[in-house]
Amino acid sequence: MAPERSTGNRIGAKDIRRRKGGVPIVCLTAYTYPIARMLDPHVDLLLVGDSVAMVLHGHATTLGASLEMMIAHGQAVMRGSTKACVVVDMPAGSYETSAAEAVASARRIVEETGCQAVKLEGGVDVAEQIAAIVAGAIPVMGHIGLQPQSVEKDGGYKIKGRTEENIAALFRDAEAVEKAGAFSVVIEGTVEAVASDITRHIVIPTIGIGASGDCDGQILVIDDMIGMTVDRVPKFVKEYANLRDTISDAAARYAAEVRGRAFPGPDHVFSATSGKDKE
Ligand code: KIV
Repeated sequence: MAPERSTGNRIGAKDIRRRKGGVPIVCLTAYTYPIARMLDPHVDLLLVGDSVAMVLHGHATTLGASLEMMIAHGQAVMRGSTKACVVVDMPAGSYETSAAEAVASARRIVEETGCQAVKLEGGVDVAEQIAAIVAGAIPVMGHIGLQPQSVEKDGGYKIKGRTEENIAALFRDAEAVEKAGAFSVVIEGTVEAVASDITRHIVIPTIGIGASGDCDGQILVIDDMIGMTVDRVPKFVKEYANLRDTISDAAARYAAEVRGRAFPGPDHVFSATSGKDKE
């Protein structure tokens, strides 16, 4: 399938890279065409996160995401945006085994969606994969700290940076991702002071989620941020709207009107005599 064509005005990975230490980089996840259209004017970067597996598809973890799922949502987000830098997550199982597998998966994502970059989770353990993808001219965003693809292995969502050993490992991961050529790195679920220190320590922009206000940018999962999440809402989320209640209220009013034969009323049906049909 031919990639979506960008308008030429899109923010690219290099533009994001240049924003280190400047005005904070505004990022949100997006998975669908209408949401991408609504967010595009307001953000610098849209991430088609593998959180889509949980948020839209109801899987228990992000391990439910597949390459096909990420590509389909990546295509929808590209169709719905013209300005934002679109980054598509590489799902678990598409890059860990070898650099060759990582390059093939990243190439497929970029060719089939037209997105600007891919993201993958890990630090020292995936440095070789990041370097190989970057060598193939595909920009990569790293993801260190709490890594949702590893929650089963880690025994749950565990905040990182609480022991000396763990802090040292986080710095090694940040340095490895930077050295491998990533243009930026997400730091998730990490003690505030540690995320702040890493931000000062590396030269690529850090994008925080449950991390620190000192990061070079922030990201949230869109459904969490607009109050659509029906299961667990993490502590670090700020809800800027409550669409759960709005949707539930609309459904309740609709149900009452259908049962009471109040809907459809005269404004929502066609009469034989009204002249031109109006949709
Ligand atoms: O999949 C996702 O939504 C993410 C963000 C939490 C950064 O990786």
